[in-house]
Amino acid sequence: MDATVGSGGHSARILQVSGVKVFGLDKDEQAVERAGRRFAGVNGFVAIHGGFETMKDLLSQAGISEVDGVLFDLGVSTEQLSDGERGFSFQKDGPLDMRFDRRETLTAAEILNTWRPEELEKIFCEYGEIKRPRRVVKALMQRRRCQPFLRTGDLATFLSGLIRRRGRKHPATLFFQALRIAVNRELECLRSGLEQARALLKKGGRLVVISFHSLEDRIVKQFLRQSEELIVLTRKPVVAPWSVVCYHPESRSAKLRAAEKK
Ligand SMILES: C[S@@+](CC[C@H](N)C(=O)[O-])C[C@H]1O[C@@H](n2cnc3c(N)ncnc32)[C@H](O)[C@@H]1O
Repeated sequence: MDATVGSGGHSARILQVSGVKVFGLDKDEQAVERAGRRFAGVNGFVAIHGGFETMKDLLSQAGISEVDGVLFDLGVSTEQLSDGERGFSFQKDGPLDMRFDRRETLTAAEILNTWRPEELEKIFCEYGEIKRPRRVVKALMQRRRCQPFLRTGDLATFLSGLIRRRGRKHPATLFFQALRIAVNRELECLRSGLEQARALLKKGGRLVVISFHSLEDRIVKQFLRQSEELIVLTRKPVVAPWSVVCYHPESRSAKLRAAEKK
């Protein structure tokens, strides 16, 4: 089970194993279509549109009750980031959307323009790990009263005017991360997805998770530690070597953890 198939980079590699069957799941319909096109005519590939937090039901609809492996490659894909219309990037102007699954109704614009200040502070603290977001939230509240936030570019410019840039990180980075996590309920979905993956694994089956920020990695690490049915294979997370980071800077913050079902 490739629980986050995206454009199918990992699935392509897994499909090289002879006789293997891969279920490629993604919440993003466009990704599922892309992967479907990429593997059209490949016998062992089945694309499924849905969230990994519903993995068990989705697989049981396909008549499957156990699998040899589950892979999670969390976060946003390059395709989603580079498509301004999806609203994930502060570098590309577009609507403040950020939904992985466009069948859902909650968008980043709705959160920013309608949630109470305490709720905004909470998501910026918890999901962006921003230490003192109150000043920014106050300014957001003032601004949205006269002009709602609708575009990523507008929000990024607004935040840049309020927060001093430290190092190479754009001041909007953590606010965008927090909004995306809230829109997609990413941490709840991850907890539920991990539990379902553990339940689906055969004896000797493997769970592999690649995460991109400390909130996700902490959840994965704790989950593996607390699972008596799993043997942890990575005492420390595996990170990309410098030679890979040079060519794929996005792999800089990737951490891979793996476990095997007893
Ligand atoms: C980093 S990308 C995966 C890239 C993929 N491994 C590849 O080789 O192209 C992460 C993907 O996870 C998807 N995703 C995020 N949350 C999800 C969830 N709860 N269930 C299923 N897919 C999800 C996103 O839509 C995105 O396509």
